[in-house]
Amino acid sequence: MKTKIEKANGINGTFNLVGDKSISHRAALFASLATGKSTIHNFLDAGVTQVLLKNLTKVGVEWHLLGNTLTVEGKGINNLKVPSEGLYCGNSATTFRLLAGVIAAAGIEAKLDGSGGLRKRPMKRILDPLQSMGVPVKGTKDNTAPLYFEKRNLIDPLEDQSIQLKVASAQVKTCLLLAGLGANSVSLISEPSQSRDHTERMLTLMGAEITNTEVNHQIRLVPPDNMLFKPLEITIPGDISSAAFLIVAALIIPNSHIRIENIGLNPTRTGLIDVLIEMGGDIKITAERVEHNEPLGTIEVRSSELLGIEINGDQIVRMIDEFPIFAIAACCSQGQTIVKDAKELRYKETDRISVLSEELLKLGVNIEEKADGFVIEGGKPVNGGECDGHGDHRLAMSLSVLGTVADQPITVSGTEIINESFPNFFELLHSLGVKSEIVNE
Ligand code: S3P
Repeated sequence: MKTKIEKANGINGTFNLVGDKSISHRAALFASLATGKSTIHNFLDAGVTQVLLKNLTKVGVEWHLLGNTLTVEGKGINNLKVPSEGLYCGNSATTFRLLAGVIAAAGIEAKLDGSGGLRKRPMKRILDPLQSMGVPVKGTKDNTAPLYFEKRNLIDPLEDQSIQLKVASAQVKTCLLLAGLGANSVSLISEPSQSRDHTERMLTLMGAEITNTEVNHQIRLVPPDNMLFKPLEITIPGDISSAAFLIVAALIIPNSHIRIENIGLNPTRTGLIDVLIEMGGDIKITAERVEHNEPLGTIEVRSSELLGIEINGDQIVRMIDEFPIFAIAACCSQGQTIVKDAKELRYKETDRISVLSEELLKLGVNIEEKADGFVIEGGKPVNGGECDGHGDHRLAMSLSVLGTVADQPITVSGTEIINESFPNFFELLHSLGVKSEIVNE
């Protein structure tokens, strides 16, 4: 599907957003490990969570989705069924890596696989530590998907783990914490910088004892007695990573003023907000509170003149999913923007450093690709034209936002991929004042 986006005169309105992708994943999966019925409101019903739910059915978990309320009948980690066919995770590395942790702990035989794109993503980062705990799992010769898990005798618990991750990754951390449940003992996991901590917050709600020692960002997890995880009764906050597209749109389109309510404000996810404020963005946070162990509030944004910035180091992980839309903000900022230490971007849904450079160059942006980031000379007019989303939901949305400020319309190919995480993206943009239309192939 191709979508043509026109220059906008302002976006205005107050709204709520779809549930957070990371928290929705964890809620559905962890509820399956609980004992009893969980009710999860504002669950993200999108491509990536649909593949997870289908896999939960394959391992014998009963769930019902009514509107955006998900109920899950948890039977405990030791009562998952051996799937009669492979577990297919589509494009979602979160589904894949989190399920891998659960399968490892449950000790059941299973094949985990995904799309061609997912098969290219690195799995050595979970395979090595899982194997060193004694999990009988193998990947391809390149340490990629599919992964084959053999049956493991639950009488023999997995080795206790004390792991130092080389790359800060919440998916890997969560996979290993879940696998650690099969060791019936304490898990110790350290990472080089603090990745998102939704797993720690949710497992605490469910009765686990989790401490973050702050030294080397080390997490210590003690599961509840007899693995009796309490069911969840939660409302998922709006997705800050989806809000990012609207926040940048409101900053760069003149005459804009938006308010996004009930949005997740977990400090491990708000790196982009901090950076945009530093760049001169008029962003205000109000109604801050904590519900179900997750911070949330209201974000109010007005059109602003932005200045270029340099970002690196620990800032990267706090905005790891936001670089495509951050690059659009950089195009519309005066001066140079430099991103360093962001090599992880090459291992996302696409090699985001390479595809961002390729597509922005087509539209006349002055961007230079670097091994671990990019440099953008901003503040110059952006041409319109044709570009491609490369099967990456966040790239497709970012290029669409650039269409709202380019001199001529921008036509983005492959916009159907946006359904992976933000199904009402264009509908919401329309309601705020953006004109776009689907154009024939
Ligand atoms: C996620 C962690 C991040 C992020 C992804 C969701 C999660 O991946 O990019 O969109 O829910 O744990 P990494 O752990 O690979 O950094």
